[in-house]
Amino acid sequence: MALTLTVSLLLGAVALLVCAVLGRRRRRDGEPPLEQGWIPYLGLALEFTRDPQAFLLSCQQKNGDIFTVYLAGKYVTFILDPFLYQFVIQKNKQLDFQEFAMDLSSKVFGHPHLNDPKIPVSNEQLHKLYNYLQGKELNNLIESVMRNLNHRLNLEQLKSTEWKTDKLLDFCYRTMIEVSFASLYGTSPCDEQKQISELMQKFRKFDKMFPYLVAKIPIKLLWNTKRIREDLINYFISRELDGRLNMAFVIEKRKEFLEQHKYLQDHDIAAHHFALFWAAVGNTVPATFWAMYYLMKHPEAFTAVRDEIDHVLQSKDQGLAPVFNIRLSKEDLDSLINLGSAINETFRFCSASMNIRVSQEDFTLKFQEDRRIQLRKGDCVAIYPPLVHMDPEIYNHPEVYKFDRFMENGKEKTTFYKGDKKLRYYLMPFGSGSSMCPGRYFAINEIKIFITLILGIFDIEIVKEEKLIKQDINRAGLGILHPNSEVCFRYRLRQGRKI
Ligand SMILES: *[C@@H]1O[C@H](CO)[C@@H](O)[C@H](O)[C@H]1NC(C)=O
Repeated sequence: MALTLTVSLLLGAVALLVCAVLGRRRRRDGEPPLEQGWIPYLGLALEFTRDPQAFLLSCQQKNGDIFTVYLAGKYVTFILDPFLYQFVIQKNKQLDFQEFAMDLSSKVFGHPHLNDPKIPVSNEQLHKLYNYLQGKELNNLIESVMRNLNHRLNLEQLKSTEWKTDKLLDFCYRTMIEVSFASLYGTSPCDEQKQISELMQKFRKFDKMFPYLVAKIPIKLLWNTKRIREDLINYFISRELDGRLNMAFVIEKRKEFLEQHKYLQDHDIAAHHFALFWAAVGNTVPATFWAMYYLMKHPEAFTAVRDEIDHVLQSKDQGLAPVFNIRLSKEDLDSLINLGSAINETFRFCSASMNIRVSQEDFTLKFQEDRRIQLRKGDCVAIYPPLVHMDPEIYNHPEVYKFDRFMENGKEKTTFYKGDKKLRYYLMPFGSGSSMCPGRYFAINEIKIFITLILGIFDIEIVKEEKLIKQDINRAGLGILHPNSEVCFRYRLRQGRKI
């Protein structure tokens, strides 16, 4: 019995090895150096996910700036030299992003694939509607966020000098999910505090599973995630949305567009709305958390940012506590240079979105001069910005938080060098080219509004920190990293200053 088991195990191992050897790709002429590991299917996925940065740097030492890695069934060619990024970003025809993104989104959020022969709804047309996240409509969105956040913070009902203790990540989720939901999807004529609080809890549960869904683990294996996703989708069915007031124009237009297609069921449309809502808060909330956390940890940054905020608030005569009503325009927010720089320094630290393109055919990707590589159809090309963000040649002491790294003579700084060459891509929290996040302006402004109001209205500080908060790298490649634990903080109405 024991013997047969050993024999079958051995046979199994031999079979695996044979598969691994037979399935190995041979590098062809003109292709980049290849790292494929020995584990069938996974390849080097485990090494990569353990610490992407360290893994890529070690590959770079061995192979130079361009190499291909076999990761979970995919051949991914990494381009590490930032001066070569533009050649990847400009190649829209041969290197696709939209199809790839639609595929991923439909699996993660459970909506049908657009541009499908069965569902001929144009993804391009849907994308055009994101123009309503800029210009005049962006100003309207900013106004809504201001109004809703003032309203939310007034509900805190703080007595004049009492401190209130809370958990920072939790506070950011609660506040921002409520405010974002109201600003995008409008407010209900009835009290919906309870529903929103459930929305927040479910959102967080679902979001915890996000990395596994992206890794294509079937949702059925992820406990009750499927049910939670259904519950979340149900917030967005037309019956729920129809009676809401002050819906953002971009959402109204998107809703109209999706509803005019008879190919889409109500549930499908709701799932698309949910995908957008996730995109609007999934990364913004942890980014806001880190921005607040670093400000509280660095008194000189906190003071500089708050002074700047006070200056703008004073020039605007923004009403008196206890009922505050802070209203700033987009121009006011643009003028907050210290804050803008502190937010970008936060992005430099904690954003880790891998930019991926999928090769549509066998072709030669040309760089400047004679440099070129051969790519095969179906292979991925990847840019990994955290390596730039943490490059000591670009950022002096990259491991140190300096809130004013992105400013110079009181203005935004845009010139960064590697060696003696000026960089075009030095900060990439929002993707690039065709994968650029259409909500980036909304996101930055929302974070600015949040911090401006919190710092303008409250005294705020970290209470106790038993252990140092670190980044949890299980989302490396997927967006803003999450903290590995909560942070206790406290706040009260600002003392000694009228607002
Ligand atoms: C921050 O970075 C974004 C790009 O991610 C850029 O558009 C913006 O101008 C930057 N702001 C500052 C103050 O550096």
